[in-house]
Amino acid sequence: TSDALAHAESLIALIPDFPEPGILFRDISPLLADATALRTVVDAIVAPFAREFDVVAGVEARGFLIAGAVAAACGVGMVPIRKAGKLPRPAASVSYDLEYGQATIEMADDLPRGTRVLLVDDVLATGGTLRAAQRLLEGLGHRTVGTAVLMELSDLGGQDVCGPVHTVFRV
Ligand code: PRP
Ligand code: MG
Repeated sequence: TSDALAHAESLIALIPDFPEPGILFRDISPLLADATALRTVVDAIVAPFAREFDVVAGVEARGFLIAGAVAAACGVGMVPIRKAGKLPRPAASVSYDLEYGQATIEMADDLPRGTRVLLVDDVLATGGTLRAAQRLLEGLGHRTVGTAVLMELSDLGGQDVCGPVHTVFRV
């Protein structure tokens, strides 16, 4: 219900000046720690996709928090998309621009070709991370049937980069 969602959103802590002065950090830890709120947001993340996916992919690190919970709740598997250098057998890698410098993400290829993937992360900001993850999945021949986040920072234009992204909370 919208009450349950509003309560879940109220558990996101607003931390001024982290990690730098002028940045208002939104800490989802209190939401994750609350059983009802976690269940509520997991249900909201998957609602539009009607269980029409075979696996959930999450982007290291905070995307893992969402992906594992979603996968377990839906009874499907989970695939970690990792930052470079962590996987023993990376099958593909994609580099993307950050505010300062570059990042690379990697994925192993443990899925049959054409697997239907729900791609999730905690936050959509500029969209660079999720666009890179979409390219990674596409490069391995998988089908991203949806991209979803807990929270979208709508001023940053991420929907134009990797949308449409299903969003539970928009700030
Ligand atoms: C944060 C967040 C998203 C990404 C969103 O991850 O968890 O993955 O930024 O930003 P974008 O839309 O501009 O790409 P970050 O790389 O800071 O690290 P973490 O998940 O490992 O904490
Ligand atoms: Mg992240």
